Amino acid sequence: MLTTLRLLLSLSAPVLGFYIPISCPEGHKCQLALLSGDDILLECPLSRAHWNYSFVISKKSGAINSMASNMEITSEGNLAITNPLLSQTGLYYCWKENSQVTQFKIDFQDVHSLYITHENLDKKPLQNESLRVGGIEIIFTRWETWQDCNRCGVPGEWKRLGYCYIAEPLEDPMPCGLYLAESPHWFSRLRPELQVEACFVECNDNPFAQLGYVIFDSFRFNEELAPLSLPCPLASIYRPVSWEANNISLTWENELLGKNYNRSLNLASGGRQLQIFQPATYRCFMEQEFIAQFNPIATLEFLGPQKRENKTQGPSRKADSIPLRLKLVLLMGTALALGVLLFNTLCSAPGKRRNQMLLAK
Ligand SMILES: *[C@@H]1O[C@H](CO)[C@@H](O)[C@H](O)[C@H]1NC(C)=O
Ligand SMILES: *[C@@H]1O[C@H](CO)[C@@H](O)[C@H](O)[C@H]1NC(C)=O
Ligand SMILES: *[C@@H]1O[C@H](CO)[C@@H](O)[C@H](O)[C@H]1NC(C)=O
Ligand SMILES: *[C@@H]1O[C@H](CO)[C@@H](O)[C@H](O)[C@H]1NC(C)=O
Ligand SMILES: *[C@@H]1O[C@H](CO)[C@@H](O)[C@H](O)[C@H]1NC(C)=O
Repeated sequence: MLTTLRLLLSLSAPVLGFYIPISCPEGHKCQLALLSGDDILLECPLSRAHWNYSFVISKKSGAINSMASNMEITSEGNLAITNPLLSQTGLYYCWKENSQVTQFKIDFQDVHSLYITHENLDKKPLQNESLRVGGIEIIFTRWETWQDCNRCGVPGEWKRLGYCYIAEPLEDPMPCGLYLAESPHWFSRLRPELQVEACFVECNDNPFAQLGYVIFDSFRFNEELAPLSLPCPLASIYRPVSWEANNISLTWENELLGKNYNRSLNLASGGRQLQIFQPATYRCFMEQEFIAQFNPIATLEFLGPQKRENKTQGPSRKADSIPLRLKLVLLMGTALALGVLLFNTLCSAPGKRRNQMLLAK
């Protein structure tokens, strides 16, 4: 039994992330902005193609192989990029028989500099600004569509992402990182944005609703009460996510007001991860569905004082530091269901969600 659990756990570990599929029609060159830190999947219209890259800042280029630690070509021939970095801004193309099939020019904008505003709070989204005094280049934010409300049947919130673009008269606007690739410089307006509003929608029947959820039983604080970071499975900044602590919603509004006491929606993860400082029962919802619950076995008594040791790095913020490996209770064959969900979402990528990310030029 234990072995089965362990096996299921090791199988389900990669399920914690979700790769947002990005497509571009065959023979096209697509230019787009995305955020650093959130996993994506670049799709190649042909199977068994090769992938090459060319980074704009380091000018490094070459074929993608197993050497690139966070990039991997899937068995279908798509390119999965885990936790993309700013420095990986550049060109990606899949090719076959020495000719390019499709090309992506991607600006990975810094998720850590995300400028977050909420309609109920005073802070306003960023204004247009000139890149240089007296210059003709305008820095502005190009907004994506609003994501769905993150809850149904109860008050929720929706959000939309905005990327930094630079416009010149008579030219198509370009993502800031690609525009400034030749002469990178720092300017506080050069940042992506996130806008949040309150919403309320009724629940309607969703085929995924039958899938059930996972219970992580349980997490434990270490002796220094360093915050833990709980990852919502299948979540991504590009999808609606919401968290509850003991049945109380943790909203972006309260987060920005500093009122999500002892918990924090990790801003840089768009709420995908929840940082917690106190034991409670945490639940997360993805696209309005209850998807995971985290139960504490919070006790300091478990750990004798002799185990106390000085940490060299500060509070741990990384998902991989979570002692979640303990026990995974699976309800209603959830691992399988979740696997099927992941498989469906990755392979056939439901039309609804995908359209938002389909950027063609
Ligand atoms: C991809 O990169 C490899 C290694 O640098 C190179 O040999 C190959 O010609 C490149 N392919 C294309 C289509 O540019
Ligand atoms: C900001 O600049 C963009 C691109 O030039 C333009 O489309 C938009 O209307 C501007 N917004 C404002 C408020 O001036
Ligand atoms: C949370 O709600 C569920 C079902 O609505 C209930 O069973 C549970 O006892 C509640 N937990 C707390 C801590 O209020
Ligand atoms: C936050 O955590 C501290 C320490 O556990 C506790 O004393 C305090 O009451 C908590 N605050 C809230 C609002 O739960
Ligand atoms: C922990 O660090 C503090 C300050 O650096 C030091 O005084 C203390 O002796 C250390 N404790 C242990 C157990 O190493």
